[in-house]
Amino acid sequence: MGLRETEAVDDGHGFAPGFFDRADPTPDADFYVPPRFVTHIDGDAITAVGDLYAELGIAGDVLDLMGSWVSHFHTAPAHLTVLGMNAAELAANPQAAATVVHDLNAEPRLPFGDASFDAAVCCVSVDYLTRPVDVFAEAGRTLRPGGPFVCTFSNRCFPSKAIRGWLYASDEQHGEIVAEYFRRSGRWDEPVIARRTPPGHRGDPLFAVWATRAGD
Ligand SMILES: C[S@@+](CC[C@H](N)C(=O)[O-])C[C@H]1O[C@@H](n2cnc3c(N)ncnc32)[C@H](O)[C@@H]1O
Repeated sequence: MGLRETEAVDDGHGFAPGFFDRADPTPDADFYVPPRFVTHIDGDAITAVGDLYAELGIAGDVLDLMGSWVSHFHTAPAHLTVLGMNAAELAANPQAAATVVHDLNAEPRLPFGDASFDAAVCCVSVDYLTRPVDVFAEAGRTLRPGGPFVCTFSNRCFPSKAIRGWLYASDEQHGEIVAEYFRRSGRWDEPVIARRTPPGHRGDPLFAVWATRAGD
């Protein structure tokens, strides 16, 4: 008997062999069938997400990638499009003006036109992407030049669905990994990496990496 099979994913952007393998290689569509009306980070971390969005002025036509029933804005953007895996969760999102069920691991190309959005966000989900550089390139394609893409994360996850490279990395390395996704996708100015909850904070930590869409 061999070891349990895992996915063998090569994203084509120079990461080490096995970096994007996952313990559960079954389609994400199966894993996300049951709606999960939970919050994945605690109240302080959620507040830190909303504070960062407010500080960066995330507003207008906004895309929430890998979204659910909560988008964490203190004030909803004028038009928020939420893309995720579970239709019931998306339908319950009170800040969403439009929702799309779309599996980014099956198809990284986003179902939106060029320069459709003013800003994009992705909260506590980047660790599940098996072709993140392609998705970050797509986020850039769909943003107007100068538009920010804000990626936040903590130290929790569904481990069977997170990529191996993330599971073996520290909080600080997670920031560097996401910054590399921005750089290797070639559409962004140099990313900013920040810890958004204070170092002594006792709850879920909140980290962020963001960059603005480079001009053409
Ligand atoms: C931990 S939850 C976070 C949800 C939400 N962003 C939040 O802040 O609460 C992970 C989310 O990633 C989405 N997701 C996971 N795999 C995905 C995929 N392959 N394509 C698109 N979305 C995915 C799921 O729909 C789920 O809502």
